[in-house]
Amino acid sequence: MADETIETLSAETLHFPPSAAFTAQANARADVYDAPFEEFWESNGRERVTWFEPFTELYRWELPHAEWYLGGKLNVAYNCVDRHVEAGLGSRVAFHWEGEPEDETRAITYADLQRDVVRMANALRKIGVGKGTAVAIYMGMVPELAMAILACSRLGAPFTVVFGGFAADSLSDRMNDMGCEVLVTQDEAWRRGKPVPLKVVADEAMQAVPGVRAALVVRRTGNAVPMTDGRDHWYHDLDVSDDPASCPCEPMDSEDLLFVMYTSGTTAKPKGIAHTTAGYLVGVATTHSLIFDLKAESDVYWCAADIGWITGHSYIVFGPLCNGATSVIYEGTPDYPNYERWWEIVERYGVSILYTAPTAIRAHIKWGPEHVGKHDISSLRLLGSVGEPINPAAWMWYHKHIGGERCPIVDTWWQTETGMILLTSLPGVTTAKPGCATRPFPGVFAAVLNEEGERVEHGSGYLVLERPWPAMTRGIFGDDARFQETYWKKFPGYYFAGDGARIDEDGDFWLLGRVDDVMNVSGHRLSTIEIESALVDHPRVAEAAVCGRSDALTGEAIVAYVTLKGNEGPSVEMLEELRNHVAVRIGAFAKPANIVFTPELPKTRSGKIMRRLLRDVAENRAIGDTTTLADSGVVLELASRAAESLTDE
Ligand code: PRX
Repeated sequence: MADETIETLSAETLHFPPSAAFTAQANARADVYDAPFEEFWESNGRERVTWFEPFTELYRWELPHAEWYLGGKLNVAYNCVDRHVEAGLGSRVAFHWEGEPEDETRAITYADLQRDVVRMANALRKIGVGKGTAVAIYMGMVPELAMAILACSRLGAPFTVVFGGFAADSLSDRMNDMGCEVLVTQDEAWRRGKPVPLKVVADEAMQAVPGVRAALVVRRTGNAVPMTDGRDHWYHDLDVSDDPASCPCEPMDSEDLLFVMYTSGTTAKPKGIAHTTAGYLVGVATTHSLIFDLKAESDVYWCAADIGWITGHSYIVFGPLCNGATSVIYEGTPDYPNYERWWEIVERYGVSILYTAPTAIRAHIKWGPEHVGKHDISSLRLLGSVGEPINPAAWMWYHKHIGGERCPIVDTWWQTETGMILLTSLPGVTTAKPGCATRPFPGVFAAVLNEEGERVEHGSGYLVLERPWPAMTRGIFGDDARFQETYWKKFPGYYFAGDGARIDEDGDFWLLGRVDDVMNVSGHRLSTIEIESALVDHPRVAEAAVCGRSDALTGEAIVAYVTLKGNEGPSVEMLEELRNHVAVRIGAFAKPANIVFTPELPKTRSGKIMRRLLRDVAENRAIGDTTTLADSGVVLELASRAAESLTDE
């Protein structure tokens, strides 16, 4: 079938029921949906987690604040590591780590992981980390990143992982917001064969963080990096014990802060999404087991995300480890040293479950199925998708070329705030439809509301959650007013996700994208305003407006409209300078794909930039209603400039 035919064909006509063979062995049975809400979360809470002290109250819901598993005491690292060793599973591989340089691999068993986490925790203790000390982690995809996360969890030190692609300003902003006293980083990371100077960027960031006392530096590339005496410590130089008895797991309250993950909102300041201990762990372990149908003794599971984002937290580190899984962690990019790399990895480790993003699938489509064909990937038995709506053509390619037309595909909708997957098919139970996230997970109550806040039974509107769920964020770190305003004000009593959705005749949910000023570029959430403020921070920029346009590869691409100061005309040099300026302020992944230089921006009479119009211009759509514009000529001018916009592509 031609791609266009798939896209235009109502995807609702393509149905993929589970095979009888898959259903017969699936972790989730159809009756999993029948369990009452309380019973479902009560039994999963008791069974999936080992408690130092059992919880006494399932949940408390004082809108919009939820608490779960009250009265319980537990430790996340104990659940993810130690208890598996105690159960005799110490020789099971927790992580097959594959470095970007092809000859570097490590098989880390649960017993190895326990020793390494203890060593890391003792190193952190030595440089002053204890229960409650906030720690920032700025690393690439090395095993020590997972170990640092687990070490903090072991000590009861709340942490924030800052994705290694972020620039110094983004790192220091996050460290200051959370009050981080310690930073864990590495000398350099590998990316497409080149070293990425993480420690140098971390140094620049730390200069702007008055509260930082110490840094722990892991050696990765071995190249020389600056070290500040008295503050910076090489991890390998610290003489510390790896005996678990030397560093017991701190008993934590269910509602103690586990981590903060910063994500873009609709203002220039990212939101620190707070997750606590018990509910988060139960939520990610339950979803990971039922949605990915994990058989811990035989599966090799690979979530090809970065640990620096929520997907990696929930479904590389916490969910899989809590379930005793064997996972793959890959350090590099899918195209290094060639387009076969992923399939080589699937073949080498016998990966049976693969979880990735539509943007990665589209990249593989672009590179061609011949690279897949060179490898035996018949070990795969289940595929997953996350991060953005998966277009039916990408779904069908994934199904055919990766899944060999035999693997169920789970399309999982969730967010940094939700902590765990909320809408998804269950393999073995649900009939999949390409591009459709299907149903709320058991114990999750989702609905679609219209502008008036009325329920839409069949049709489009705003996606909301009606009841709390264990892994939901407990709030925005240090900003409860913003938490209430962002998620709970539009529809009182409901969590408003910021996404549009449609419910079809079968009652299945289709995601329609964001309804706010948030873009989704390659599955990364970016705020238009955050990029605008990075642009106007450049001395030559008078004004900037940013919007997304659809892009065949990255889902959305960033378009910036820029007015320069004075009489300066546009130039290719200025274009590059501004793109780099955004990279320096936020990170290279936030660089605009197009910059349109314009003498003026379209504004309403009250002076608000009309982003919707800019979006129309960026998409080459007919221009909508301009009657509220101060000067409608500006739009037409823009449209013609956009047509000849300076771009790097
Ligand atoms: O718009 C939705 C989209 O990604 C947003 C959440 O982004 P973030 O917090 O960065 O987390 C990404 C990974 C969980 C959502 O508001 N999104 C995520 N998964 C899907 C999706 N859109 C459609 N279908 C999905 N499966």
